[in-house]
Amino acid sequence: MKDIALRGRAYPTDLNPSGTVFGGWIMAKMDKAASIAVDEIVVADTVTVSVTDLHFLKPIRNGDIVTIYTEIIGIGRSSIKIDVNVMVRCKQSHDEYSVTDAIFTFVTLDEEGKSIDVRDVIRDDIDEEIRAIL
Ligand SMILES: CC(C)(COP(=O)(O)OP(=O)(O)OC[C@H]1O[C@@H](n2cnc3c(N)ncnc32)[C@H](O)[C@@H]1OP(=O)(O)O)[C@@H](O)C(=O)NCCC(=O)NCCS
Repeated sequence: MKDIALRGRAYPTDLNPSGTVFGGWIMAKMDKAASIAVDEIVVADTVTVSVTDLHFLKPIRNGDIVTIYTEIIGIGRSSIKIDVNVMVRCKQSHDEYSVTDAIFTFVTLDEEGKSIDVRDVIRDDIDEEIRAIL
């Protein structure tokens, strides 16, 4: 199930010298969006352990409205994989097109920073689709 985790607008301070948005700006937002998606399903500290398949597909420009969609696509013992997709809304048609995507992996941690089983910290009210991949 795809969720909207974050929405915002690109401003002039977010741009690189060529006039499009810095890769790091959007990567930080994707990480935050993924962490929100993870917080929706577990009650525990979590950290990003890896980012793979990162693709900058199209530039993001000044003023663009950016929406970040997240989808939990896998749950291991202590790890959670999230597909993160960044879309920009066309100013004229309002159609959305994909500008960046990546797979983030988060790990659930105990108070000492050691990995713990996701199932021990899963929320009671998780969606049925998430329960099906547990
Ligand atoms: C996350 C962390 C606790 C994992 O430690 P670890 O000793 O590898 O722990 P484990 O061996 O128990 O592995 C935990 C899980 O992480 C997964 N994992 C570890 N390294 C990984 C990698 N490079 N890519 C994908 N998954 C990875 C393991 O497969 C395991 O998944 P599973 O339990 O679902 O099978 C440790 O690497 C860490 O603290 N990293 C820093 C995290 C951080 O600061 N993130 C912010 C970055 S700016």
